[in-house]
Amino acid sequence: MTQDLRLAVAAELERARARTALLTDAVDDADLVRQHSPLMSPLVWDLAHVGNQEELWLVRDVGGREPVRRDIDELYDAFKHPRRDRPTLPLLGPAEARRYVATVRDKVLDVLDHARLEGQPLLDRGFAFGMIVQHEQQHDETMLATHQLRSGAPVLAAPAPPAAAAPVTGEVLIPGGPFTMGTSTEAWALDNERPAHQVDVPAFFIDRAAVTNGQYAAFIDAGGYDDPRWWSPAGWQRRQSAGLAGPRHWQRDGDGWAATTFGRTARVVEDAPVVHVSYYEAEAYAAWAGKRLPTEAEWEKAARHDPATGRSRRYPWGDDPPGSQHANLGQQHLQPAAAGAYPEGVSPYGVHQLIGDVWEWTSTDFHGYPGFAAFPYREYSEVFFGPDYKVLRGGSFGTDRSACRGTFRNWDYPIRRQIFSGFRCARTA
Ligand SMILES: [Fe+2]
Repeated sequence: MTQDLRLAVAAELERARARTALLTDAVDDADLVRQHSPLMSPLVWDLAHVGNQEELWLVRDVGGREPVRRDIDELYDAFKHPRRDRPTLPLLGPAEARRYVATVRDKVLDVLDHARLEGQPLLDRGFAFGMIVQHEQQHDETMLATHQLRSGAPVLAAPAPPAAAAPVTGEVLIPGGPFTMGTSTEAWALDNERPAHQVDVPAFFIDRAAVTNGQYAAFIDAGGYDDPRWWSPAGWQRRQSAGLAGPRHWQRDGDGWAATTFGRTARVVEDAPVVHVSYYEAEAYAAWAGKRLPTEAEWEKAARHDPATGRSRRYPWGDDPPGSQHANLGQQHLQPAAAGAYPEGVSPYGVHQLIGDVWEWTSTDFHGYPGFAAFPYREYSEVFFGPDYKVLRGGSFGTDRSACRGTFRNWDYPIRRQIFSGFRCARTA
């Protein structure tokens, strides 16, 4: 049992590192150290930061080994240096950063061989290793977002996602009643997903698919960006100050729209989810459509609750980990798939593609669940709780399966749109 777990952990560490290598080897050294947007770190910062977190938690804390590079801890502490300032730091260069992460990984694999994966909460079922796997995969998604902001010739390529098996439109009624939100049993769930608790959700309708490019274009063409009626006061202020006129990376193309994706410009796909919209834009679209954004609890009930058994599933399709037939995850396709492309991933209520494709904005502020306990450190989630951040759910095409579950919670500022964010609508029944 423990040997199986060790092998599984090692394979997940290796899979994350292969993705990191792909994203950092795709560009030359000048591109690695360059800041492509003040919103993002230079890619070489992400690379060494991934290694530094791995060193802190697994080499020093779990392994009790001597530090590899204690002198660089401060440089790679995300709380000490905002992204905007990171290019001015005396960072490790590309070759040095690569050597550093390889040295740390060698030690970690040795620690893994000797660690007792039970007995204490930090190591129970490999949690600390799982946390580091997820951390690296989260940075891989961040690095993919940096690639999207980079200018120059395309360096990433992937096959197109599957087409829709059958079109998915309309909404479903989710009857009122309690369901189990969050988890107390998922081995690698993070502190903010815990504990499992009952939530009574009144009846509501939710869209079977995320809002598509075609639907969103109709909102723009109807003058949605020029009508303050659809916008919250904060949203309208942002729309004005930032001069928003459509999703980030969109441009007019005759009577339609084109978007630039990882350096390639093409017409937007009508029936694929809109991506790179802020919370404020999502909120305005929903108001224009006579709907609203779902709450986080509504989203999770639509995704996990099985009315036949009364229990909550790990994923919309069941308890099996995500496969390529279930969801568009893991940077296998570098764009969202059309509504209806993953019929095997449907939830018991008939809601499609809740996992993968685009992160979905919810109307809920990021807070701890009843009974929340910070673990293993306050800075993982708790310092972000409050009204400044909105919760996003479900993961995107850029999210790895190890960092995405039916309970997984992401959060960001409502103005953000460099992330792979979209949304679906709901309304009160
Ligand atoms: Fe980090």
